[in-house]
Amino acid sequence: MQELRNGDTAIMLAQMQSGSVDAVITDPPYDELSPNWLDDLFRVVKPGGNVIMFCSPENQFFKPDEILFWIKTPSTKNFQKRCGRFVEMILVKRGEKGAFNPLHWSQMTGVYDDRLVLPPIHPYEKPLSLIERLIRIYTNPGAVVLDPFCGSGTTLVACMNLKRKAIGIEKDHSKYLLAQDRLLGLLPGRLKGE
Ligand SMILES: C[S@@+](CC[C@H](N)C(=O)[O-])C[C@H]1O[C@@H](n2cnc3c(N)ncnc32)[C@H](O)[C@@H]1O
Repeated sequence: MQELRNGDTAIMLAQMQSGSVDAVITDPPYDELSPNWLDDLFRVVKPGGNVIMFCSPENQFFKPDEILFWIKTPSTKNFQKRCGRFVEMILVKRGEKGAFNPLHWSQMTGVYDDRLVLPPIHPYEKPLSLIERLIRIYTNPGAVVLDPFCGSGTTLVACMNLKRKAIGIEKDHSKYLLAQDRLLGLLPGRLKGE
């Protein structure tokens, strides 16, 4: 059963026990975070667990062991003042006890261009196929995975599909309710990425 919490990660992480999750996979907002949240995030992962985090190239949250790239869908923003950027980095901190499950080589390139299959229900929603690939590689079945900025719940759905347990935290109440409906299967087509 996946666990979804409505609240501020900065507060909720501080209340979580040290070493209580096997891995973190998350896509945080790139600003407005409490200075202590990253320390707390590493504290709640079991010693030696993996931490996987999306970020912009200009704002890397920690020094990673591996960097993967996600090529986003180009948008029609105005590029008169600066070049556009259609790539997000995925920082990977590989704990010495963290899972590493190699897939077929075509899934291990480190550069991915997965796309949403349906129109987004969250402005920053990630493709389910991309998150499922990360979950397969960097966690084992049965693992407890934390997404402290879970948005529409993509990580929780991916974990449910792949038999991992997930804990999601989302501050925005309407997005929390959205993730809850998605997990309950109330949003057609949102559990499988079809
Ligand atoms: C980039 S989005 C994540 C989108 C998600 N990957 C998905 O596929 O839907 C980041 C989310 O973090 C939430 N958030 C921002 N600050 C937060 C905080 N302090 N505590 C918990 N959630 C927060 C935002 O409301 C937003 O939904």
